[in-house]
Amino acid sequence: MKILVVGSGGREHAICRAIKKSKKTTKIFCANGNAGIAQIAECVAIKPVQITELADYAENNSIDLTFVGGENSLALGMVDEFERRGLKIVGASRQAAQLESSKSFAKDFMARHKIPTAQYKTAFSTVEAAEILEAGEFGGEQSPVVVKADGLAAGKGVVVAANRAEAVSAVNELQNLVGADAAQKIVLEECLFGKEISLLLFSDGKNFALMPPTRDHKRIGENDRGANTGGMGTITDASLLSAELTAEIVETIVKPTLIGAEKDGFPFRGILFLGLMLTENGVKVLEYNVRFGDPETQAILVRLESDFVEICEAIIAGKLNELSIEWQAGSSACVVLAAENYPQKPRSGDVIFGLDEVEKSNDVFVFHAGTDQNETGEYLTAGGRVLGITATAKTLAEALETAYAAVEKISWNGMQFRRDIGK
Ligand code: AMP
Ligand code: GLY
Repeated sequence: MKILVVGSGGREHAICRAIKKSKKTTKIFCANGNAGIAQIAECVAIKPVQITELADYAENNSIDLTFVGGENSLALGMVDEFERRGLKIVGASRQAAQLESSKSFAKDFMARHKIPTAQYKTAFSTVEAAEILEAGEFGGEQSPVVVKADGLAAGKGVVVAANRAEAVSAVNELQNLVGADAAQKIVLEECLFGKEISLLLFSDGKNFALMPPTRDHKRIGENDRGANTGGMGTITDASLLSAELTAEIVETIVKPTLIGAEKDGFPFRGILFLGLMLTENGVKVLEYNVRFGDPETQAILVRLESDFVEICEAIIAGKLNELSIEWQAGSSACVVLAAENYPQKPRSGDVIFGLDEVEKSNDVFVFHAGTDQNETGEYLTAGGRVLGITATAKTLAEALETAYAAVEKISWNGMQFRRDIGK
């Protein structure tokens, strides 16, 4: 099969690797890829948001299956366009993608289908949001409130404000932070407390299969200090989620979400990512994403033993229930190496040293994100998050040790990473 992957990050490198392992794959194409992806796929110079061009490309090149990495393509209706043309594709439809592309849509959906989440109120302007806060309609004067831009904001649209005054200034700053479009509506939310966990699943609309639970580390600095990023590292480990909590999540969140989506007319086919908070009052949904996470995927897919392409075909055919999806026992860890000045204004063009040494090892996977290669074959930094050094092992401690041992071999001018992933 000829398979097209849409995206250019570490997530897409991990997806391409999983596809490469499949006995069904004859050739991988990736739009638009990166220097690591180029080692296993033909990179195509079409951006993930160029929906029509991508559909034309798939038609003209007899692509058998397309897999969409990121939310922007999905929110623009890429899956709808491909399906309209009879092209096979895995991902959420435009309507289903609203679970991620509009926070107020997602909150109303959860309220309608009684899915546990934080109390909330949607404001239709900055002025209304400030009025709601100042009238004490939401949160107390000294209690924390969460302020969220409604639209896609690449991780920048959420402010956990310590008190009402901070929440009001967050509301007033939101448009500057994420742009007028994403902040057209503002969701005000009760602040939840507890441990955060991400649970991803494959869904064919009716049947689903959970992936190993994972935890992300979002802040740039150790001990969760400093600016928010796309994610500086992830782990998968059975200890993140007990069998009891998993069963609670399936009954109170997963099933009602899939049944609710079907009832509302947009059966969810693709990858569903649940951002969850384990609170004293049960597990609650912080957010839905309608795609694989980055860097969650790097840590998850290295443990997948089943054929990824067969899973994709089962999602499209509505036959996930006929597959038994196997995962390698144990744990995994992904440590992100970022460029100088990430996440503000990352510097590009630094030569990356030490990659050859790492790539010789069997339990270590180097996923490229923002990388490029020059004429002499040297790898260069070309973005904020540059590499995701990922390892699997029998225990989390070993996976972390192996990943960090590999990290020590890699360097470039200004390289940043956190030493406390998985701690
Ligand atoms: P989201 O994009 O909605 O997942 O929000 C990003 C991050 O903000 C989450 O990973 C949480 O750390 C935090 N957050 C979001 N909603 C809440 C909430 N209701 N209470 C506490 N923290 C939250
Ligand atoms: N790492 C968080 C995300 O992909 O949304």
